[in-house]
Amino acid sequence: MMKGVHFLAIVALLSLTSSLVSAEDPSPLQDICVAIDDPKSAVFVNGKFCKDFKLAEANDFFFEGLQNPGNTENPVGSNVTTVNVDQIRGLNTLGISLARIDFAPYGENPPHIHPRGTEILVVLEGSLYVGFVTSNPENRLFSKVLNKGDVFVFPIGLIHFQFNTGHTNAIAFSGLSSQNAGVITIANAVFGSNPPINPDVLAKAFQLDQKIIEYLQKTF
Ligand SMILES: *[C@@H]1O[C@H](CO)[C@@H](O)[C@H](O)[C@H]1NC(C)=O
Repeated sequence: MMKGVHFLAIVALLSLTSSLVSAEDPSPLQDICVAIDDPKSAVFVNGKFCKDFKLAEANDFFFEGLQNPGNTENPVGSNVTTVNVDQIRGLNTLGISLARIDFAPYGENPPHIHPRGTEILVVLEGSLYVGFVTSNPENRLFSKVLNKGDVFVFPIGLIHFQFNTGHTNAIAFSGLSSQNAGVITIANAVFGSNPPINPDVLAKAFQLDQKIIEYLQKTF
């Protein structure tokens, strides 16, 4: 009888300790991380190397200049100024970053994905038509027109966009749940990959004539 109780106690203890140990791989902080055996040609340790604590300073956690608009004179009429681990080195391992997005009248931040971060956006000036689309098979669009002070969330990994519906400039700020959320702009990745994807693949995928695909590949 005692033995049985003892055994149960050990099983309970084991299941408790194993639930405290993470059984998952850490989330990647970059697109790819090919394993190598020779540390001499290694670059990242899932993020960046850490500076010696004694050498860290306030400026490692500081960035200035987000009061300045990005230049929106480009084909899409928007500009994203990112403040991630590349701008603030102290963000390393903290799972957070920031962006300012400027929109010319009727400019857009074209459909894109952040492979490593959820985004929460607040509109400071103007009006934006925003939305995201969920995965297959529903492909449901969640969209809304946002005005000054409005906040919207774009869940990690989903295609989303922001379009300035007004004839004035618009400004938004976004927080992202990664030090390096990454951006895949759909049109650029699909039609502007390097080297290009075989046009046959895209003609069938988009149900378009090969000539249109080749035109799009030239444009991007
Ligand atoms: C965004 O704005 C910055 C600052 O004006 C500029 O250097 C950069 O080229 C712009 N990017 C695009 C894509 O227009």
